[in-house]
Amino acid sequence: MLSFPEFSNGGAIRVEGLRDVPFEIKRVFYIYGQGNVGKVRGKHSNRKSEFVLFNVKGTSKVKTIDENLHEEVYELNEPGQAVYLPRMVWKEMYDFSEDSVLMVLTNEYYDAGEYIRSFDDFLLEMEHIKEEEAWKSE
Ligand code: TYD
Repeated sequence: MLSFPEFSNGGAIRVEGLRDVPFEIKRVFYIYGQGNVGKVRGKHSNRKSEFVLFNVKGTSKVKTIDENLHEEVYELNEPGQAVYLPRMVWKEMYDFSEDSVLMVLTNEYYDAGEYIRSFDDFLLEMEHIKEEEAWKSE
């Protein structure tokens, strides 16, 4: 988790690329609105994109699954709290409050081709990456 302090007079938070987040920010999008209540969003992994997610308003949860099938759940419930997700992590966003505004920063322009949308494909690609790494280290 990343923590962002409020400015000295409160009620304002700043995020600077390469300083506060570990990449240059190329894209920002928001997931908001009552249509997300009860829904699970995400359910994909990205070959190139890294993300920083904030609930600038309201609350949601983010579940991640890594290459070792290790699961983590992060609760986003403060405008100054964020979660950093590196490449090749399976992610799901859910439990959106009615007033949730989930802001996402990323290092890449949108490219549908770098999304892995099937969990089985994610596992297969991770196995390939691990095999290549094992070959290189021999
Ligand atoms: P997607 O990333 O698939 O879902 P989620 O928000 O649940 O992670 O996004 C939903 C749709 O929006 C999908 O058709 C792709 C499109 N989209 C863009 O065109 N540009 C974007 O920057 C993003 C994030 C999504």
